[in-house]
Amino acid sequence: MTTAGAAEPHKSAAADPLSYTTSGQRIEHAAQTLWEAKDIVAGTDVGPTGRPLRDIPDPLPVSHDGDALIVAMCNQKGGVGKTTSTINLGAALAEYGRRVLLVDLDPQGALSAGLGVAHHDLDQTVHNLLVGGRTSVDDVLMNTKVDGMDLLPSNIDLSAAEIQLVNEVGREQTLGRALAPLKDRYDYILIDCQPSLGLLTVNALACADGVVIPMECEYFSLRGLALLTDTVDKVRDRLNQRLSLYGIVVTMFDARLLHSRQVMARVVEVFGDLVYDTVINRTVRFPDASVAGEPITTWAPKSGGAVAYRAMAREVIHRSGR
Ligand SMILES: Nc1ncnc2c1ncn2[C@@H]1O[C@H](COP(=O)(O)OP(=O)(O)OP(=O)(O)O)[C@@H](O)[C@H]1O
Ligand SMILES: [Mg+2]
Repeated sequence: MTTAGAAEPHKSAAADPLSYTTSGQRIEHAAQTLWEAKDIVAGTDVGPTGRPLRDIPDPLPVSHDGDALIVAMCNQKGGVGKTTSTINLGAALAEYGRRVLLVDLDPQGALSAGLGVAHHDLDQTVHNLLVGGRTSVDDVLMNTKVDGMDLLPSNIDLSAAEIQLVNEVGREQTLGRALAPLKDRYDYILIDCQPSLGLLTVNALACADGVVIPMECEYFSLRGLALLTDTVDKVRDRLNQRLSLYGIVVTMFDARLLHSRQVMARVVEVFGDLVYDTVINRTVRFPDASVAGEPITTWAPKSGGAVAYRAMAREVIHRSGR
């Protein structure tokens, strides 16, 4: 029998996977202090998150000349918009004058393909940087069609890395060591993680300053969030004290669906202000842009999707101060 008063009766752990995580409570606490009241403009409309829309100023030119902020775009659930968010957030940050590096850390190579790179034919990829240690980052680095945005591409070769790294000393820090020489060349390094919490993803978390979680707006996406935030907590405790949870970006939202609105309300209830105000609507223009091998910001610059990822970039710049 459960103790009376331990939880609201209608919220069992099975039915409500977010209720009992210690990280969930910590996250709520952190979120309360994240935004200052001055960000909220009195009398403004309520946004899709159910909160008043905040006044996010247009970014100023970069004033910071230190190391890049490394952001892991992470969710072990597949098909939630990690790669789409990495490409388009990166392109939008570059439009705002930020120097951006995208790292494809998924053997599927979807990030590379989404930027029009024939990744299957590449000899030098992230795999060479992680395994062997003789390849220079400059041999792997590629320009993209977006000004100010570069790419470290991957292909199926990377699928061997998890096994090849198992016996390495400091195997969780391999990616961090590979990226070190690039940190002073960029303002943001965005790492597109694969849909798992294996060694490659742990490598991303071990070298990142923060994690952005793209989350598809549907019930089953909620279930994996507790596991993911617990993994972030473990990596912070054991490998990387700097690691923060920067935020959750809700993707594939459809305001016409009650289900979408209910999931959104629940995510905001649990994660509070960690949920970005920017919400990415479901639209076929994203798959279309991937086929074209470009970010939506250049393929359909005036589309709702392009506008949304620019708004997200403004939030990211505002929150990070760079
Ligand atoms: N907002 C959106 N609306 C509609 N389709 C979208 C949206 N965002 C992404 N997609 C599409 O959904 C599919 C999955 O997106 P994406 O590849 O970005 O997810 P992912 O989390 O990186 O997947 P994986 O876990 O396989 O790496 C792609 O076909 C993509 O074009
Ligand atoms: Mg992906």
